[in-house]
Amino acid sequence: MTESHGEPQDLNLDKVTIGIIGGTGAQGTGLAYRLARAGFGVVLGSRDASKAVLAADLIGLGVRGMSNPECASATDVVIIAVPWDSHQETISSLTDLLMGKIVIDCVNPMGFDSAGAFVLATEAGSAALEAQILLPDSFVVSAFNHVSAVVLSDVNIDEVEMDILITGNNKKATDFSQLLVDRIKGMRGIYAGKLRNSGQVEALTANLISINRRYKIHAGIRITGLDSINLNL
Ligand SMILES: NC(=O)c1ccc[n+]([C@@H]2O[C@H](COP(=O)([O-])OP(=O)(O)OC[C@H]3O[C@@H](n4cnc5c(N)ncnc54)[C@H](OP(=O)(O)O)[C@@H]3O)[C@@H](O)[C@H]2O)c1
Repeated sequence: MTESHGEPQDLNLDKVTIGIIGGTGAQGTGLAYRLARAGFGVVLGSRDASKAVLAADLIGLGVRGMSNPECASATDVVIIAVPWDSHQETISSLTDLLMGKIVIDCVNPMGFDSAGAFVLATEAGSAALEAQILLPDSFVVSAFNHVSAVVLSDVNIDEVEMDILITGNNKKATDFSQLLVDRIKGMRGIYAGKLRNSGQVEALTANLISINRRYKIHAGIRITGLDSINLNL
């Protein structure tokens, strides 16, 4: 079952608070920094609230830290940024607290060996599809899969020049996520299909990591042909 029930609540982009589950990690703190710079209220979640408070203090910009359940319940939109091997367990523990909310999943099921990054098979078809199954009353969106934590956290990078592919089954949720992404300087949110197409987006990260390793860069993606289009159709 990958269709959620009903519609997400109306949210005011100027007042929305964003929680990040697993927010003390590289990706969580990087996203928190960019989102806080964009003017959002941000809460880092952790299995250990004191760890989240410390990580939040290091970022500054009004970012706060809480336990994962407190973070899920205190915020309007919630990003999942835990490692793939803890995805199912973490999300399952938050099902009730995430009910009715837009949940943005940036998790890439990937492994690493001596040949580099490779894609892991998932039972549901993707991390985001698994999240939607575990959260039948939330509105799961997949986004931020391709943006490197190193780039996000680099205070010397003013604009994060890249496109963020957004997949999701609910139009209101994907539209809102696009607008949220667009507030981050340099980023552009692009709708890229229903959640059944999130697996390819997650998997492409393995190619980007291979590019990064070969050319010693932090690659992102840009989609061509959209320059004169209103993307929020
Ligand atoms: N790093 C990147 O550049 C990047 C880019 C795109 C997408 N992503 C995706 O973002 C996710 C997070 O990446 P990351 O590099 O930030 O990972 P990470 O630093 O290894 O982990 C993030 C946080 O997850 C929590 N965590 C770790 N093990 C856990 C467990 N067994 N149960 C529950 N929570 C656990 C930890 O927070 P606490 O100890 O505070 O609970 C940790 O700080 C991954 O799924 C990755 O695919 C990462």
